[in-house]
Parts: sequence; C-alpha cells; structure tokens
Amino acid sequence: NNHKSDSRGALIVLEGLDRSGKTLQSRKMISYLEGLSYSVESWRFPNRNTGVGQMISTYLANKSELDDHAIHLLFSANRWEKRSLMENKLRSGTTLIVDRYSFSGVAFSSAKGLNIEWCKAPEMGLLAPDLVLYLDIPPEVICSIIKFVVEVKKAAERGGYGGERYGQLEFQRKVALSYQILHDASWKTIDACLPIEYVEKQLQEAVLDCVTTCQKGKPLSQLWS
Ligand code: TMP
Repeated sequence: NNHKSDSRGALIVLEGLDRSGKTLQSRKMISYLEGLSYSVESWRFPNRNTGVGQMISTYLANKSELDDHAIHLLFSANRWEKRSLMENKLRSGTTLIVDRYSFSGVAFSSAKGLNIEWCKAPEMGLLAPDLVLYLDIPPEVICSIIKFVVEVKKAAERGGYGGERYGQLEFQRKVALSYQILHDASWKTIDACLPIEYVEKQLQEAVLDCVTTCQKGKPLSQLWS
C-alpha cells in the first residue's frame, strides 16, 4: 500500500569535536539497530576512499597546502559525490549512521574565520538529517583525558590532541562555538562527559524514535531550507 512505499531508512548524523566519542558510539548504535533487525550502514565524512577524499586526507595529514575556501569546497564535494547513493539507500529502507556531515564542514571552516553563510551555501540541497546527535564535551576535558592517556601509554599512536591538522585546543574551542550556532530542531545534544553506557542508552532511545518515524513515512528534506 501507499504507506509502505513511503517507508524509508533514517539519516542519523553524529557530530562533535575531535575525540568526543563519535566513532565508538556510532559502532554501538549500529550493533544495537542490527540487533533489532534493522538494515543499517555506518558512513563517515570525509569519505577518504574517493579521489576527492584522498585530496582531503593528504591535506589533513599536513602533506599539502590548500586555500581555506578550496578545502571547504572539497569537503562539500565529497558529500555531493555520495548524495545519490545516500538517497537510494534511504529510500530502499536502509538507515545510515553518519559520523560527521555538513555541520562539521561549516563548524570547522567558520572556526578558521570563513563567513558562515558562505560556508553553508555549497551544502544546500544535500539531504537533511532526520536527527543530529551532538556529543557535547568541553575541549578542555578531551584535552586532559588525552594527556592522561598519553602519559599512561607513553607512545600513544596518534599523540596529542589529534595528530592531524585541526588538533589544537584553541581551534577546537572555536569549533565548539561554531557548532552552537548551527543547532536546530533536528538536534539532540548529549552530555558526552557522562559514563559511556549512559550516553549509549540516551542515543539508543533517540535513534529508535527516529527510525520509527522514518519507517512511518516521514518525507526526506534538504539542507538548508
Ligand atoms: P575525522 O577525524 O572524523 O575523519 O575528520 C577529519 C577532520 O576533518 C576533523 O578534524 C573534522 C574535519 N572536517 C572538516 O573540517 N570539514 C568537514 O566537512 C568534515 C566532514 C570534517
């Protein structure tokens, strides 16, 4: 019937500062939904497997220099090259748990000083998430946890607050401020300082609610309209 054909998967995005626990929690959400027999895939941006993704990866590893505007547009292009696949997956009933999306794009670039409206423009027309889960944790807390871990492990592989380009505390503070401007009705902020199991439980509730709404035929919409 009509109702069934409108049924679709949910587009769920995890956002937060570097090392806020997105990757761990996204893995947990995937196994939770799989356990409930939902069709679900784990995605992440940047997707480093495409040509554009490789340019981004080289830049993040400090092995190339790019104008701030140019790298912003590459991050955006990297989402555009996956847009139609994303839509097909959602319409065929697969829920996508996406580690970072346009909000990272805008938050990180505007933290560098680029105009926020300019940053949003190339994202317009990408699919709007049904739910954005923001893992909220002060950069100072992440920083001291990492220092502690490095102390204990001596030679932590990625070392410091992010081995990559954006790893400075001062910069992460600016990113946190930019994220605050982007909040809208689709956002749910989770206090990521709480114990992992507690964060996990809160995410499960939000995700299940969202997946159910999309199954019932909530229409897909686009950023930023
Ligand atoms: P990752 O560590 O999650 O792979 O992300 C790499 C870095 O890229 C991270 O510091 C956030 C940043 N980033 C942007 O600046 N713009 C974007 O559009 C995305 C998706 C990530």
